[in-house]
Amino acid sequence: MSRSLIVANWKMHFNIHDASLYVHHFNKALNYHRSIEVVLAPSLLTLQPLSLQIDRRKVRLAAQNAYSKDDGPYTGEVSFTMLSGLVDYAIVGHSERRIYFAESLELIRDKVTAAIRNDINPILCIGESKPEKIAGETKRVIHDQLITAVSDLTAEEVKRVNVAYEPIWSISTFGGEHADPTEIQKTIDYIRYQISELYGASTASEVRVLYGGSVDDQDAGGYLALDGCDGALVGAASLDYEKFVSIIDTAQSIRLAKKKD
Ligand code: PGA
Repeated sequence: MSRSLIVANWKMHFNIHDASLYVHHFNKALNYHRSIEVVLAPSLLTLQPLSLQIDRRKVRLAAQNAYSKDDGPYTGEVSFTMLSGLVDYAIVGHSERRIYFAESLELIRDKVTAAIRNDINPILCIGESKPEKIAGETKRVIHDQLITAVSDLTAEEVKRVNVAYEPIWSISTFGGEHADPTEIQKTIDYIRYQISELYGASTASEVRVLYGGSVDDQDAGGYLALDGCDGALVGAASLDYEKFVSIIDTAQSIRLAKKKD
């Protein structure tokens, strides 16, 4: 069983001072669990100072985004090459980037490939919109987003991809509807099935599949208990360090309960 992955996606919140204050409290409150990997994804600007403040044995860093080229005349962009060594993970294809910044399936594929090329583990976000869900297109959307994103990778490289299933309608930004865990189970199973079909069962068993979308300290357990759910991508609730610590502790309790089964 790989380690569970619990990721705080701070989005465009917290300046350097706020981020540092958070980590100060978080370091004290965090209970270390060997089987849980804790990742903070702060703004790009705060990655460097936080890298000096966190205890790297307990917490890792993720970028929220980066560009697919390694260097060149791309004003305003930061590459995975530049982030290499500073972060272990990078969120790629978040729905806010797909929607607000018009990121295409192909650009997201190139970013996933660039992350792997630079030894950074992608956290690939995929998920359907409400109209797509109503039209019964969830599987098609998941299939297209997932398969395109990993299409330039070998089976060995695919193992390093972490897939975060985030139905758009459940993300706080886009309405934050509570998702029924039994429905989420079906899509998690479908994601693994798709990877297995294309890259084999051994690859599919190593890819971690997370859930994201208004996960908070109250309902995290319902998602983390799902079969094959290897973690959570947490937005709004992660801005409160106490809530985030509570989600991490819940992940640990669920692991222990799953082990007993
Ligand atoms: P949320 O965000 O927990 O605020 O819904 C999750 C995400 O967008 O990654």
